[in-house]
Amino acid sequence: MAHTTQLSTQDLSKYFSNINEVSRLDTFADLVVTGVFPNIKEFCEASGMFKAYHNYVHRPTQKYPPYAKSIYVVGDGQSPRCGVMFAFRTKDINIYSIDPEMKDKYLNWTTDDGVPVSEWLGTPVFDYEIKCRVRRLRCYKQKIEDFGAEFGTQVLCPIIVGCHCHVNLEKMLKCHLLNGVAETYAILMPCCISLINNDQKKHIIAEYHDQGIPSAHNKVYILRWE
Ligand SMILES: C[S@@+](CC[C@H](N)C(=O)[O-])C[C@H]1O[C@@H](n2cnc3c(N)ncnc32)[C@H](O)[C@@H]1O
Repeated sequence: MAHTTQLSTQDLSKYFSNINEVSRLDTFADLVVTGVFPNIKEFCEASGMFKAYHNYVHRPTQKYPPYAKSIYVVGDGQSPRCGVMFAFRTKDINIYSIDPEMKDKYLNWTTDDGVPVSEWLGTPVFDYEIKCRVRRLRCYKQKIEDFGAEFGTQVLCPIIVGCHCHVNLEKMLKCHLLNGVAETYAILMPCCISLINNDQKKHIIAEYHDQGIPSAHNKVYILRWE
């Protein structure tokens, strides 16, 4: 006889927490329209990474104002999923989405009618504020080891985001932009390769399984260097 398990309301609210949160956003429809999320799982993963940022990194007590931060999404995939999620849900912060497999169309991202994202002007779908948010996102078809682009203000507080990326933290930290800066954070969710070595473990400030991410690889680590 088939065995079925009845999920409690509490379980259900845990499992659906990330998608519930993102679907409540005013910008949810616009996030869908960007077309970068192929399925709900990807929404949950990107939203879970943003939640980690919001809970552990985006603190009002921090030394630095928001504009001193930059977010580097390493191994974001063929489309900038975490990049878009962070761009829509932050203000003032420049965001870099870096992956050697990034599709060319995101390097000079245009709307369906060929208008560069940087020139979107209050279309019925993307209002002015949203245009400005995506304008703070730049996509790079590069390995993090080769990455050297910079725009915006001087980086004082880089935040590395690695969602199921296939590149370890040691390589990420060797990127010259991230060397010698005042305060660095990393938000990592490893999948098939281990991202954090023994030396780096002392920088972990939080680790937990995010049950709102429907994947066997849902353990999130937050690290900080002062
Ligand atoms: C399993 S995919 C994850 C993609 C996306 N983050 C996701 O969660 O769907 C791993 C990604 O890591 C990228 N990657 C591998 N080596 C890299 C490197 N040295 N620098 C940046 N990205 C890298 C790959 O190109 C690939 O897109």
